[in-house]
Amino acid sequence: MAELFDDIFKESKIFLKREVLSPHYIPHNLLFRDKQMQEIAKYMTPSLKGERGHNLFVYGKAGTGKTSCIKSVIDKIKSLPISKAKISYINCRVYNSRYRILHKIVSDYLPLYAKRGYGIVDIYERVISWIEEDGKILVVVLDEIDAVKDLDDLVYTLTRANSDIKAGGIAIVGISNKVSFKEVLDPRSLSTLDENELAFSPYNSNELSQIIKERVAEGFRKEVVDPAAINLAAALAAKDSGDARLALKIITKAGELSDERGLTAVTVNEVTEAAKFAEEEIAYEVINTLPEHQRLIVYAIALLSVQGSRYKRLSESGEMYLFSGDIYEKYVSVSNSLQKEAKSSRWYRKFISDLDMQGIIISYESGKGIRGHTKLIKLAYPPEKIRESIEKTLAKEATA
Ligand SMILES: Nc1ncnc2c1ncn2[C@@H]1O[C@H](COP(=O)(O)OP(=O)(O)OP(=O)(O)O)[C@@H](O)[C@H]1O
Ligand SMILES: [Mg+2]
Repeated sequence: MAELFDDIFKESKIFLKREVLSPHYIPHNLLFRDKQMQEIAKYMTPSLKGERGHNLFVYGKAGTGKTSCIKSVIDKIKSLPISKAKISYINCRVYNSRYRILHKIVSDYLPLYAKRGYGIVDIYERVISWIEEDGKILVVVLDEIDAVKDLDDLVYTLTRANSDIKAGGIAIVGISNKVSFKEVLDPRSLSTLDENELAFSPYNSNELSQIIKERVAEGFRKEVVDPAAINLAAALAAKDSGDARLALKIITKAGELSDERGLTAVTVNEVTEAAKFAEEEIAYEVINTLPEHQRLIVYAIALLSVQGSRYKRLSESGEMYLFSGDIYEKYVSVSNSLQKEAKSSRWYRKFISDLDMQGIIISYESGKGIRGHTKLIKLAYPPEKIRESIEKTLAKEATA
């Protein structure tokens, strides 16, 4: 049976270093982001000197380099010989409540204490006394901050702490790709968070070409990737979203296709094929990390599309669209069956426009017709696959 494992040891004709293409890899050189890195560093500078400084809110669409930039600035700070700042980087998808976040902070810096399983008040007081010991500045970096369930409480606790602390302080850096999440915040938390804002814009096709080129030079064998393939991957990702993660995923997937087929080059053919896979894969990831009710709405649309409902055919394209009102009804019934309270139709309309902005659905305002003004909606990805992927996540959550 030795031949079973032959493939593992066979050298790839395409890839040189696979790890360079992993989504967790932080490139040494972040192109086109000097200005943003400098801005982040500028906001962090007072805390390095032991001054409280300002909070910062970083926003921009998915794959625009927010996480990479902040991590790279943190690494640079950690390599400084002296600094008063203690930085806790927190991925709020994983640590998604005030308790979990405070617990993560003590785990980072007081691991022995964290193990003892204290309640939130004790943990809070321990953090404060640890800060006061020598006037530290704790910088709490909350990546994907929109995922925090009790964000108002968290922001209130962290800011109020500053009036309890006699020496030192806490500064917050919030990061999000959902600009509209701020609308659900209490105005008090909001004014704390968006003290200073820093925007990351989507990359254009030229920028993506260079980002891909640099990564290809590190991760692929010399000269296997056709320059036209790189430009096409960049153009497709730019057209779609300006998302560097998507661009890199396309070229990686294209490389895998060539590898599987025993080819010695990556051309526009593989890229065209890979783009379809990559976009879908990313869409499922995005959908499964949506806030609960937005995800339930997508689920309702997928169910209606699969099971059938009333449709309107758009004459120019022949494509079938669902009626917004039907989707709302389905969403309410899905919520009920999962014992969740459905949001009002006002929220529903807001969520629909968020989903539209994120490219998960495509919607049209219908003209005046039999049913008056209504929105016509369809999914931007295959409904059957979306249904499957959401059901998997729901099942996982139910057993968690
Ligand atoms: N300027 C850049 N140069 C090189 N690689 C980049 C650059 N910007 C982004 N990338 C790469 O693109 C991918 C996505 O970047 P990153 O995770 O930083 O995006 P993000 O803005 O945090 O996205 P999200 O909102 O989805 O969290 C990573 O693999 C990263 O290495
Ligand atoms: Mg990120």
